[in-house]
Amino acid sequence: MTYSILPSILAADVTRLGDEVDAVMSAGADFIHFDVMDNHYVPNLTFGSMFCSALIKRFPALPIDVHLMVQPVDSLIEGFAKAGAQRISIHPDAAVHLDRSLQFIKNSGCKAGLAFNPATAIDSLEWCAYHLDFVLVMTVNPGFGGQQLIPEVINKITKIRDFYPHLDICVDGGVTIKNIGKLAQAGANQFVAGSAIFNSSNYTDTITNMRAQLANI
Ligand code: DX5
Ligand code: ZN
Repeated sequence: MTYSILPSILAADVTRLGDEVDAVMSAGADFIHFDVMDNHYVPNLTFGSMFCSALIKRFPALPIDVHLMVQPVDSLIEGFAKAGAQRISIHPDAAVHLDRSLQFIKNSGCKAGLAFNPATAIDSLEWCAYHLDFVLVMTVNPGFGGQQLIPEVINKITKIRDFYPHLDICVDGGVTIKNIGKLAQAGANQFVAGSAIFNSSNYTDTITNMRAQLANI
């Protein structure tokens, strides 16, 4: 199993965003997770595609994973793909024509993900899994970093792993050194972590510790 660690810049010191990105990538991160919030689909407002373009201008090979928590979604897919994102995930309940939106992601050359909030059923996977590279399981309600993982949602990871063994499963929200092993045992192989990494005193130690937990699975 290939495991990936994706630090969420939501928890970074945004006054030093470029340096923070540089630091977590040097510390062993696989992707930068970009939480895009619109104060409509979720009650918070964050980064537009110009942040993505600016980072890619400074770090041309930077692998960016964009998590769109926005409504409407299609025009932002295009903006982030043009800005150089490698992966884009969207929420089924934020898309009007989900198949079309997933086609936009794939046609723009990005990997496509479908993101589920803690209480959202995964039924929509049945008719669009063929478009997908990964499923993003939210283990907190979207909108804010620094929340506690909702343990009941871990069963959803197991269920998706059983039904869709070929898909990567990315888990997002409240991921820590303590719970990452349990999430991997349930079937997750990609781990978004905001506060657990950026609030730690040594990013390399934290990411190395996370990988050590995964090595024991
Ligand atoms: C929440 C975001 C998460 C969040 C994770 O809406 O999608 O990516 O930043 O942050 P932590 O790891 O602090 O829960
Ligand atoms: Zn996210």
